[in-house]
Amino acid sequence: MHRGRLITVEGIDGSGKTTHIDHIHTYLEQQNISVIRTREPGGTEMGEALRDILIRRVDLAMHAETELLLMFSARMEHLQKRIRPAMESGTWVVIDRFIDATYAYQGGGRGVSMDRIRLLENWVLNGLEPDLTILLDLPVEISLARTKAREQARDRFELQDREFKHTVREAYLERARQNPDRIRIVDASAEIDKVKQEIWKTLDMLVEKEHDRI
Ligand code: TMP
Repeated sequence: MHRGRLITVEGIDGSGKTTHIDHIHTYLEQQNISVIRTREPGGTEMGEALRDILIRRVDLAMHAETELLLMFSARMEHLQKRIRPAMESGTWVVIDRFIDATYAYQGGGRGVSMDRIRLLENWVLNGLEPDLTILLDLPVEISLARTKAREQARDRFELQDREFKHTVREAYLERARQNPDRIRIVDASAEIDKVKQEIWKTLDMLVEKEHDRI
């Protein structure tokens, strides 16, 4: 049996990740592919507890490198308990954010050294790479306008200023430049149906390759 594929979806807040992940999940199920969806930080009981500290507990001040280590702690748990077992049994995994978010938010946004992130990536991921990453790219102004309309309380990252978000977006785009075969940039400011079509086209290519494997 072939190992399941790993698809990750990235983008700054307001890029429509949740909606598009729903579509991706449904699309793959329709192709008779066994698939699970999950998110980071989170995806396990421990990971969700860490998520609460990392995102919701804005009352807890945190050093940028502590934040980095906690992100990777949640990721280690996720990889060991869910991602690797699923992939090994042939199931595809779709994750709402993964390693590129760390380069974008902790590296770009917080200014933690990219080398330090790479060190942890080598340890925790141990060579694992997503097969496909969809980067829902959006200008910061649109992101701010979309998230302002949300009712929920602001989290640790939503509370950051425009400059932070701008740096995060740029770091994502830089990751895409460095990994052109893996990361597909999709213009998330376009009409939702157009975004959906773009994503489908990309998924079709991956599913076709899968059929060639069988
Ligand atoms: P979201 O899943 O609702 O988008 O929120 C997750 C937040 O966590 C988001 O603001 C980005 C942040 N994050 C990081 O800073 N580093 C990471 O490695 C991951 C996975 C998420």
